[in-house]
Amino acid sequence: MAEELHIRQNATREEIYTELYPQLEALVYGETDLIANLSNIMAALKSSLGFFWVGVYFVKEEQLVLGPFQGSVACTRIDMGKGVCGFAWQEKKSVIVPDVDAFPGHIACSSLSRSEIVVPVFDSSGKMWMLIDVDSDSLNDFGEVDRFHLEKIAGLISRLKG
Ligand code: SME
Repeated sequence: MAEELHIRQNATREEIYTELYPQLEALVYGETDLIANLSNIMAALKSSLGFFWVGVYFVKEEQLVLGPFQGSVACTRIDMGKGVCGFAWQEKKSVIVPDVDAFPGHIACSSLSRSEIVVPVFDSSGKMWMLIDVDSDSLNDFGEVDRFHLEKIAGLISRLKG
């Protein structure tokens, strides 16, 4: 496994995602431990894209439960339908929120968070397994480029289930 990331300076966000993806594949190659792999993927996303907060929540019975993440401490459990994560779980689809203050029921883990994207991760049987949550301290920071590339990374994570 490569232990250093190589991202060109001054690359656009889309270029960073594109350069990062094969490095994420290399990072998890040959390692079977899920938590180790998710931890490295979250660290790689945070360090290469400069996200304010990035992490996963696992679908566990009746709640979402916090998994590996990078950023400040966060709420550990989220109910179905609650906040952006609970909404994405309920709808089983990616959700982009340009202004979290305008999203009814948004859960403010940090008062500095201004916009957010949540992307579901499905297992090979199509069951929702976890979700990726990314927060920004800027308004309107996420768009279709993020959705496309984070969904691709969600596909990589789904293959970690073996
Ligand atoms: N803001 C999220 C909660 C999780 S934190 O952002 C890490 C939400 O509304 O679901």
